[in-house]
Amino acid sequence: MPPTSPDKVAVVLGVGAARGAGAAIARRIAREGEHAVVIGGRTRDRLEAHVRDGELRGEVWRAVVTDVTSPDSVRAALGVAEGLGPVDLVVYNAGPNRAIPFLELDVATVEEFWRVSCLGGFITLQEAIRRMLPRKTGTIICTGATGSWRGGARFGHFGAAKSGLRMFVQAAAREFGPEGLHIAHVVIDGSIDGERIRTVAPDRAKAKGEDGLLHVDGIADMYWHIYRQPRSTWTLEVDLRPYKEPF
Ligand SMILES: NC(=O)c1ccc[n+]([C@@H]2O[C@H](COP(=O)([O-])OP(=O)(O)OC[C@H]3O[C@@H](n4cnc5c(N)ncnc54)[C@H](OP(=O)(O)O)[C@@H]3O)[C@@H](O)[C@H]2O)c1
Repeated sequence: MPPTSPDKVAVVLGVGAARGAGAAIARRIAREGEHAVVIGGRTRDRLEAHVRDGELRGEVWRAVVTDVTSPDSVRAALGVAEGLGPVDLVVYNAGPNRAIPFLELDVATVEEFWRVSCLGGFITLQEAIRRMLPRKTGTIICTGATGSWRGGARFGHFGAAKSGLRMFVQAAAREFGPEGLHIAHVVIDGSIDGERIRTVAPDRAKAKGEDGLLHVDGIADMYWHIYRQPRSTWTLEVDLRPYKEPF
């Protein structure tokens, strides 16, 4: 049973469906009882449902409707977190995706993908680092994808944004690691067994077979593992994929 008043705060930005990586990561953190958990996403109803579920388990949760592409919005979410205690763990998880043929891409779409998957990560990293630096401690973990490494056919817009996020993580980790901040990147190299694929491509989900998709709870375990690493043995980047995913 978690304590009623944890003394640290975790923020997870990019929380949507219950069956999504963001919500699973938030649940995993809250379960340990060390942190109050502040979640941000654009849909109030979904956020409030997570808060209700968490509170039923005796955990401390807050929801803040957040648009990660807006510095003011990210600052507001972190402000709510600071009101509960020191911000000790921040997860940047927002990142939509869909295949678009290269010649059908327009500037507005490319920019929108970049704003969510890259710019939002930069804003979150900067705002989180500013809050953690005075205490010389804190962990920030950003969610990547296959596109963080590779520009796949029909996924140039996604890869350009996700690889940019990866570079911000690397730069920040190198600058602030020696200051005591652990900044890490998780490459999710496969499809998540979540709401997205179950809604958009149920046949593809079925064709993957047992354990052919990444389970959200396994992903969440890795985030908690990274958070718990002692500073003599920090991870910058880890990749996760189902056992039969080609790579
Ligand atoms: N799904 C996959 O198969 C897959 C594969 C590889 C990597 N990934 C990565 O894993 C992460 C999580 O993916 P997921 O599919 O499991 O989704 P998820 O964690 O359930 O949800 C991420 C949530 O972020 C929210 N969001 C989107 N734009 C936002 C914005 N501008 N401001 C604030 N919140 C925003 C969305 O909720 P609202 O619409 O309610 O705001 C979305 O549901 C993403 O970074 C993704 O790139 C996913």
